[in-house]
Amino acid sequence: MFNASTAVVLTRSLGHTPQIEGANFLNLLIVDDDRAIRESCQEVAQSLGFNTRVAESAEHAYRLLDTSTADAVLLDLRQPAAGGMEALHAIRKHRADALVIVVTGNGTVQSAVQAMKDGAYDYITKPFSMEELRLLLERVAGHLRLKTESRMLRESIKSRQGFGNLVGRAPEMEKLYRIIAKAGQSSHPVLILGESGTGKELVAKSIHLAGMFRGKPFIPVDCGSLVPTLIESELFGHVRGAFTGATNPKEGLLAIADGGTVFLDEIGELPVDLQAKLLRAIQEKEIRPVGSVKRVPINVRILAATNRDLERAVAEGTFRRDLFFRLNVLTLRLPALRERRQDIPLLVAHILERIGRDAGMEKTISDEALKALLRYDWPGNVRELENSLERACALSSAHQIQLRDLPTQIYSAPIELIGISTPANGIVPMAELEKQTILSALTQVNGDKMLAARLLGIGKTTLYRKLKEYESRSAAV
Ligand SMILES: Nc1ncnc2c1ncn2[C@@H]1O[C@H](COP(=O)(O)OP(=O)(O)OP(=O)(O)O)[C@@H](O)[C@H]1O
Ligand SMILES: [Mg+2]
Repeated sequence: MFNASTAVVLTRSLGHTPQIEGANFLNLLIVDDDRAIRESCQEVAQSLGFNTRVAESAEHAYRLLDTSTADAVLLDLRQPAAGGMEALHAIRKHRADALVIVVTGNGTVQSAVQAMKDGAYDYITKPFSMEELRLLLERVAGHLRLKTESRMLRESIKSRQGFGNLVGRAPEMEKLYRIIAKAGQSSHPVLILGESGTGKELVAKSIHLAGMFRGKPFIPVDCGSLVPTLIESELFGHVRGAFTGATNPKEGLLAIADGGTVFLDEIGELPVDLQAKLLRAIQEKEIRPVGSVKRVPINVRILAATNRDLERAVAEGTFRRDLFFRLNVLTLRLPALRERRQDIPLLVAHILERIGRDAGMEKTISDEALKALLRYDWPGNVRELENSLERACALSSAHQIQLRDLPTQIYSAPIELIGISTPANGIVPMAELEKQTILSALTQVNGDKMLAARLLGIGKTTLYRKLKEYESRSAAV
């Protein structure tokens, strides 16, 4: 048996040790029968940011492993009752995903070698210094980060569609997936920018799921839809009597999310005084409930999103520069759907599969209808695509969605208009509009002039005449 004095040589000046990025989402279980060693190791691990639990015996460790998660286990191989090797095997068997680091005694290299052969991730020999333990835990944290990151990416490669719930294989999306996998492993705030309906909330959720926050709460807060006093008490909580109607104390979401993620949607709408309060909460990792003088520590990951131009809001003085910088550590810009049109068929298939599942009937789409979807400009992005398909399916009980089932703005999207250069005065001549409408109608009906004329509400001969005119005009150019 080791006694504490010979075991760990720890300096007590742990206060300045920088925390390991993301370690506050890693759970470390320390198994040692020596209380002094357990506590010293716990102190070092906590100073690095790890969440720790301690067990005084292998049996105690098994009980803890049954009820809580452990990403890594620091296991003293000298176990009084169950042998250390036996404990290693048991942990490896029941918690194959947890890294086990064995602690061996001086001069017992043999057992360290055996432990590594039996699946231990690493070993450390007693007595060890704080620096040695710190370096070891840093390696562990790095390894765990990489493990999760590559698992997420492997899964995304396996999935033909995209990454988690995100659909899309356009280069912009692939780049996004890589950043999400990385962002999941850090605890810095992330600012998610993108037009309405581009999937900002979905991306926030993916970051949450890609990280060590999985299993912890993901709490979205819509900063745009609540009145300022309500947002304040939602985020920070309040004490009884803090304001009229506050008959009961309430815990703030930033505290409730403990170890999880708070997603601040429409952050651009947050009132300026609350911006200051939020900045303080992020920096100091504590909050003060409304009406209280006490501060409450928080352990939460902040993700924020907006479709507003925050830089402009900063320039205009409606958004605090310091908060902007704080949130802007990592920024994700989601592409608009029209910038990744190649993903439209995948998205359509994905959405139709869901609708079909709900309706208990397979849903498909005709080539013409899909072509129209590919041409349309999608100001409302994926949400608009979803709504259009849902509407089309609601309108028709047939298996296949046809062009006519789509909303008019999509159905009659004048394709070539996209290519028209609007004159400086912003007015497109009637003749030009007419030409584009006719050509667009013809494309939509695959060149069927009879059908085009009928749909346009003009005579067949008028259509022929117009087409002749266009031909001769373009020949003259
Ligand atoms: N890449 C994607 N793959 C699959 N579905 C998506 C994707 N992007 C968005 N969606 C779907 O589109 C809808 C809108 O997404 P989401 O709410 O995340 O967008 P948003 O950017 O937060 O929009 P808003 O700014 O309007 O709040 C959701 O139903 C979401 O599931
Ligand atoms: Mg949203």
